[in-house]
Amino acid sequence: MPRYIGKEMSRVDGIAKVTGKAKYAAEFQVPNLAYGFIVQSTVGKGTIKSIDTGEASRAPGVIRIYTHENAPKPAPPKSTELKPQDNAPERDKSFRALQTDQIFFNMQPIALVLAESFEQARYAARLVKTTYNEEKPTTNMEVALKTAFVPNPQRAPKPRGNPAQALKSSPVKIEAEYTIPIEHHNPMEPHGAIAFWENEKLTIFDKTQGVYTVRRHLATSFGIPEENVRVISPFVGGAFGSSLRPNYYPAIAAMAAREINRPVKLVYTRQQMFTGHGYRPHTWQKVALGAEQNGKLTAIIHEAVNNSSTFEDYSDNTTNFPRSVYACPNVDSSQKIVKTDLSTPCAMRAPGAVSGMFALECAMDELAYALKIDPLELRLINYADVHPESGKPFSSKALRECYQLGAEKFGWKNRKFEPRSMRDGRQLVGWGTATGVWGAFQQPASVKITLRADGTAHIASATSDIGPGTYTVITLIAAEYLGLSAEKVKFELGDTKFPRAPVQGGSFTTASVGTAVYESARNICQKLMNLANKESNSPLKTAKIDDLEMLNGNLQIKNNSSQKVNISELMRKNNLPELIDVHEAKPSSERQKYATGAHGAQFVEVKVDPDLRIVRVTRVIEATACGKIMNPKTSHSQEIGGIVWGIGMALTEATEIDHRYGRIMNPNLQHYHVPVNADVLNVETLFVEEDDKIVNPLGIKGMGELGMVGIPAAIANAVFHATGRRVRDLPITPDKLL
Ligand code: MOS
Repeated sequence: MPRYIGKEMSRVDGIAKVTGKAKYAAEFQVPNLAYGFIVQSTVGKGTIKSIDTGEASRAPGVIRIYTHENAPKPAPPKSTELKPQDNAPERDKSFRALQTDQIFFNMQPIALVLAESFEQARYAARLVKTTYNEEKPTTNMEVALKTAFVPNPQRAPKPRGNPAQALKSSPVKIEAEYTIPIEHHNPMEPHGAIAFWENEKLTIFDKTQGVYTVRRHLATSFGIPEENVRVISPFVGGAFGSSLRPNYYPAIAAMAAREINRPVKLVYTRQQMFTGHGYRPHTWQKVALGAEQNGKLTAIIHEAVNNSSTFEDYSDNTTNFPRSVYACPNVDSSQKIVKTDLSTPCAMRAPGAVSGMFALECAMDELAYALKIDPLELRLINYADVHPESGKPFSSKALRECYQLGAEKFGWKNRKFEPRSMRDGRQLVGWGTATGVWGAFQQPASVKITLRADGTAHIASATSDIGPGTYTVITLIAAEYLGLSAEKVKFELGDTKFPRAPVQGGSFTTASVGTAVYESARNICQKLMNLANKESNSPLKTAKIDDLEMLNGNLQIKNNSSQKVNISELMRKNNLPELIDVHEAKPSSERQKYATGAHGAQFVEVKVDPDLRIVRVTRVIEATACGKIMNPKTSHSQEIGGIVWGIGMALTEATEIDHRYGRIMNPNLQHYHVPVNADVLNVETLFVEEDDKIVNPLGIKGMGELGMVGIPAAIANAVFHATGRRVRDLPITPDKLL
């Protein structure tokens, strides 16, 4: 019986976080600190004609001001700079601040003021006077849709079957366009860094999802060996994809620190976060579905376009997941981008999947109404028992069970089919459903386990914990397989002094780092067995490694604690105060024979005020199948978080741009609306656990991002059911329902 796996564990870092002991990047105390403040452009396109820092330089406390005119240039990027495992483009064309007089987007950083205090730097920043040769920016993707192009034609998927022909001859068809505005990650912790140099060695405290990625970025920026850069990031107050890539601020913080020969702290204001780290792109989609009268899908044609910047081709991969959700013989999908005078978008919570599934799952609802088939029934009719693209079997897929369990818990059978047919007093009631999908990814990851003769263990890996509970789940897995109580295990992360791990993204951390811990613990077991069997009277002489476990300080035969060796005694006898294993785990080749993924079903109730048209999400049931759940407590928290964000995406979140100036009008939490407690009513998350030893030995699938996918569609479908109004443009604000 597992002692920890599958049981609720509170966050091991919880007390440190709520008492303020947990230090975030900008909170480290470094003596002789200089404070930076970023000055931003007030135009959306053009060039800087003049930038006058005279008055600002004379302001109290100012140490130095950098602009494109005096900032040192970074070393030229090498083509090897970014590696494929970072999901990054091969050539780094990311925005570098203070390198040119050219303005690529409004609120672009154009100067860095350094002063003795934050307030002095901020005050002086307002005294920098800039004139521009202004040009008209193009920021509205929808008016530039005809300029859309395929960024990676060689990687574009081929059509399946003959979709155009199949659609034409389908007895029932629907076609609709769906739009999603730009949305911004708004983690509680603003992005920030503290950088300092000791000779040619750079140390930086940075908010990041991947310390190794930042290390390589900075090493290449300064033309120094990677070993000369240390990146430290023990706590991250939310990131959601906004810290997957190095943003522009660590490089200028490090540059300034080197130039003035002092530690420099640089933190974004909330406003600066809207152009400082990317965003979910503006996305336009068109979905055409064809079906037989019995509901069988005959054709899916799914087009998507997202905006990018002028200097990078960011594709959100919107149509990738939706291609493989339903059994359909004829499928075509495309992904194009439009260049706009905005900063580059980036991955944001369930990137592509949540946007693509919004369109597909709304379209499925529209088809259900065209066919007069229950929307859940339509999904079951088109259930994909094997992967429809490759024909491979799924390593596991309990989506059918999720539909059943969710529907039962929700009471879906009591739903009346017709829109506007359900009421609660004067409130219009709507019930909607949708499907969620995400990958079951695993990346190479390394850990170091130090088992000590005193019965404690130290685990280290340069992964990150942006909030999902990685500190806790890795402690839990290590305690399980080292046979120790969790209090005896200490796990550290977020430092390039630890073995390499991938960025925390794609919901692959537990599968990747957890597998490394599991395998490394087995290596420790093997080492201990070898030591024990040096003695002629070892009770483990005939044992195989698979028969052994570590438990309560002993190495023993599983389920037979009479045959055991005390680990501490064994180590002391061999003069080993500690036993170390450094191990890299890689995804198994066995996975290639299967399709792998995580799935979910959402059931949503909305109530709509018939006069004011305000939508409230009154009830959500989400059932997900994402392998084995390591820690139910933090896992439910992930899925609840996904639902909450789905409510925001469906009903309130939008970054509004004044297209005359290409300027964001609501770069703050007053006017960019995320859900608050009062917006979130009854939410219940359920897991249908899968026993899947193909994905990895512990059966771990990605589950963080999964929880959000499908929610915006389920809400939009519920709004249609309540009101009879199909809103295909997010967010669904009351004006669109009037
Ligand atoms: Mo997540 S968008 O993979 O950080």
